[in-house]
Amino acid sequence: MRKIIAGYLLWGTFGLCLQAEAPTEQQQKERWNNVFAISDIPFNRQPNAFLLKSVQGKTPGMALEIGMGQGRNTIAMARLGWDVTGIDISDEGIRQAAAEAKKQNVNIRAILASANDFDYGMARYDLVYATFEHQIVTDNAAKIVAAEKPEGMVVIEGFQEDMSKQIGRPLGHRVNELPRAFDQLRIVYYEDTVGPADWNDGKPAPIVRFIARKEQK
Ligand SMILES: C[S@@+](CC[C@H](N)C(=O)[O-])C[C@H]1O[C@@H](n2cnc3c(N)ncnc32)[C@H](O)[C@@H]1O
Repeated sequence: MRKIIAGYLLWGTFGLCLQAEAPTEQQQKERWNNVFAISDIPFNRQPNAFLLKSVQGKTPGMALEIGMGQGRNTIAMARLGWDVTGIDISDEGIRQAAAEAKKQNVNIRAILASANDFDYGMARYDLVYATFEHQIVTDNAAKIVAAEKPEGMVVIEGFQEDMSKQIGRPLGHRVNELPRAFDQLRIVYYEDTVGPADWNDGKPAPIVRFIARKEQK
């Protein structure tokens, strides 16, 4: 029963991301705080496999995670030697991420900030990544591109919008949304497929995966 309630709360919160009348950031923050306060939300707590594969063999540098949630990726990236900053709108997510990093004795920078207001800076990061953040990322694509160092990478995984049919409300990246949003970068990988999805409890779902690189001028 708890699991059904957790799933209901999770999908309700996800759907809010794109509902006709956009929720305020305060409403989003409260919904995600409630989701993260539940211990048995149905999602994969391991770091995102596509992200880990994308950085294999890369020299660690400065990284930014947009929407770090409870920090599963941020902590894994810090363990790999990346100097990583995670931002999120949920103070409960940030609190849990910082506590877990401390417990594991790894250094992360966990910042309570909306992706829409965050100061991304210029040529600051070797890697900007996001998993299951959708329009929160593409709405800020121009700022992310400016924040990339030359040769810097963007790595993204999220639901494809066909997921909307499964949950009965709008969710996910629209067709070719990522290549369009990041067309200033060199797209080195793009996949629109069905596969195991972290935020679908590891069960298959429509998924997009994306890697792009900023060319040296
Ligand atoms: C589905 S969770 C994904 C968390 C994490 N990326 C992961 O895959 O484990 C969505 C996250 O986006 C965060 N979020 C929602 N709106 C945001 C915004 N405007 N700025 C930053 N984070 C936001 C939520 O608080 C939540 O942590």
